[in-house]
Amino acid sequence: MRVLVLLGPPGAGKGTQAVLLAQRLDLVHIATGDLLREHQRQGTPLGLQARSYMEKGLLVPDNLVIQMLLERLRKPDCLQRGCVLDGFPRTLEQARALDEALGPNGVERVVLVQVSEGELVRRLGGRWICRTCQRPYHTVSSPPKVPGRCDVDGGELYQREDDRPEAVRQRLRVYQEQTAPLVAYYRRQGKLVEVNGEGEVEAVHRSILEAVQAPSPATDSR
Ligand code: AP5
Repeated sequence: MRVLVLLGPPGAGKGTQAVLLAQRLDLVHIATGDLLREHQRQGTPLGLQARSYMEKGLLVPDNLVIQMLLERLRKPDCLQRGCVLDGFPRTLEQARALDEALGPNGVERVVLVQVSEGELVRRLGGRWICRTCQRPYHTVSSPPKVPGRCDVDGGELYQREDDRPEAVRQRLRVYQEQTAPLVAYYRRQGKLVEVNGEGEVEAVHRSILEAVQAPSPATDSR
């Protein structure tokens, strides 16, 4: 199965770029944050367990997220078309579980989207999301045509609980401690490519497309 991973800190634009990449390459977009928020909306046991972690900006325990993701990967659309993962893996345990599930070839390419911390805070502070299709907007850089409404389906726009300043600070800390070690993990496998995530959305999309279509980067032991 073809699996591409978008890796990067909160607010790097993974969700924005995953939608474009999935459309362009006809892959399924899987965002574990969106799946978990959907569980919360439906009030499932997983959603109830996940809520307190997500509100505080902490990671949901590995066993819960891994099971949810592997179930999603086994659905026919993923098996037939492959997928872009956005927000998974986020820990070494998740990365190892994914490798094990995918077998010898593992993931095809991991794109690290790099954005400075000041820009991340600015982006998350101004983000609004469509309740219906989850498309993100930004009050300054990508405002909706009609305030409070999604351009695509007219859905209501809302701000995420974990985009409050103290939760954002916690998410950035958690990224450094638990997710950043994946950079070395995938670099050692020769699968990591780095892309500058600052600049116009369309320009970042072109860089990511080039990065996933370029020959495999060399493995390195850093
Ligand atoms: P999740 O939903 O995955 O959030 P995240 O990783 O913190 O990422 P974000 O959605 O905040 O940002 P993004 O990189 O997608 O940026 P976006 O495109 O929206 O996870 C939320 C929580 O769920 C976690 O904290 C955890 O609790 C739990 N969770 C999820 N997965 C988990 C896992 N695997 N394990 C354990 N727990 C898990 O863009 C941000 C803003 O910037 C938008 O307003 C956008 O319009 C704007 N923007 C985008 N690109 C640009 C650009 N080029 N220029 C200017 N503005 C831009």
